[in-house]
Amino acid sequence: MAPQPTMTDVGASSANGTRGAAGRPCPADLSPSGKLDAMTDAAAAKSAIASSLPAKPRIFSGIQPTGRPHLGNDLGAIRNYVALQDQYESIYCIVDYHALTHVHDPETLRRQTLEMAAALIALGLDPERCTLFVQSDRPEVTELCWLFNTVTPVGWLQRTPTFKEKRQTQPDDVNHGLLTYPVLQAADIVIYKASLVPIGKDQAPHLELSREIVRAFNSRYGETFPEPQPVYTQAPVVLGTDGTRKMSKSIGNTIEVLAEPDVIRKQIMSMVTDTQRILRSDPGRPQVCNVCQLHRHFGEDYEEIWDGERTARTGCFDTKKLLAERIIAHYAPARETYKELMADPARLRRILDEGAERIRPIAEATMTEVRERMGLR
Ligand code: TRP
Repeated sequence: MAPQPTMTDVGASSANGTRGAAGRPCPADLSPSGKLDAMTDAAAAKSAIASSLPAKPRIFSGIQPTGRPHLGNDLGAIRNYVALQDQYESIYCIVDYHALTHVHDPETLRRQTLEMAAALIALGLDPERCTLFVQSDRPEVTELCWLFNTVTPVGWLQRTPTFKEKRQTQPDDVNHGLLTYPVLQAADIVIYKASLVPIGKDQAPHLELSREIVRAFNSRYGETFPEPQPVYTQAPVVLGTDGTRKMSKSIGNTIEVLAEPDVIRKQIMSMVTDTQRILRSDPGRPQVCNVCQLHRHFGEDYEEIWDGERTARTGCFDTKKLLAERIIAHYAPARETYKELMADPARLRRILDEGAERIRPIAEATMTEVRERMGLR
C-alpha cells in the first residue's frame, strides 16, 4: 500500500516541529516490512535468531481502544510514537483484549478499535514505517499469557496499583482479566522480543511487573526474553478542561482534537483558567493556568501570550479563543485523513490485517521456542 500523501502532510505540518521526522524517507535497512519480508523466504530458518536479536532496537507499545483520541492522548503518547517510528523498528498495538476487562459492549469495542486505528494513522503513524495492528488479530499472545501465568505469583498481581484501583472503581466487575492484565501486557511486549517500551509514567508499575515476569521465566527456563526497558514520554500530564484532573474520556474533561471545529471550540471555551483571576483587570498566573500551559504546544510565542495574561493586557476569553483556533488549525489535516479512513472501513481493515500478518513470523518463532523450553513439545 502506498503511503497516503495526507498522512505525510500531517506529520510535516506540525506547529512545533516534533513531527518533522514523519516527512523523512525511511532508510531501507530500517524498514520493518523489508526486514520481515526477508524473514519469510530464505532466511526463514534464521527467524528465531533474527527475532531474538533484532538488528535495530525494537520498540513495542500498546494503546487502549478508547475511540477517537483526545489532546491528552496525542501530547502524552501518540506524538511520541510518531517521533519514534523512524528511529526504531516499532510495533504499535491497539489492545482490544485488555479493553474487555472493562468494555462489555461488542459494538462499542469494534467501533472504538477502528476509531483509534484511523486516528493513529491520521495523527502520523505510517503503516509503511511502523507496524500497527490490533491485539486480537495475533492471538498467539493469549497462549504466552497463559504460560506466563504459571510463572507469576498471585501476590504480585494483587499488589498491582491498577488492580487495587479497579477493585474500587468497578467493584461489581472484579473479573479475573483485571488481575491478569499485567501478565498479558508482559506477553504483548516480549512475544515480539521488544526491548524498549514507550509509555507514560502511570504505566511504570506494569512495566516493572513485565520485567519481573520475564526474569521469573528466564530463571526457570533459561535466557529467552530481553527484560523490556521503559522509555518515558517527556510530555507533562495533560490536565483536562476542568484544569485539575488528568484529561480522560471517563471523566469527560477532554478536548477532542479530531472532532468538528465547533465541538473543539465549545470544549476549549468551557475550560477552567486561573481560578483566582476574577475580574478582567486582575493579573493572570500563566504558570497555574491550564489554557496558558497548553499554548506551549501550539506556537513558539507562548511566552508572549503568558505576558499578556500577567499584565491583564489579554483576558481569559481571548487566550482560549486563540488556543481553540490554533488547535483546530493544527489538527485540520489529521481531521481530514481521519474522516477519509472512517469512510472506508474496508481499507482500514486491510491496513490492520497487513500489520498483524507482518509480525506473524516473530510471534510464531517465539511460541515455538517457548513451547520447547517449557516441555510442551
Ligand atoms: N496498559 C496499557 C495502558 O493502559 C496498554 C498496554 C497493553 C501496553 N499492553 C501494553 C502498553 C504493552 C505498553 C506495552 O495504557
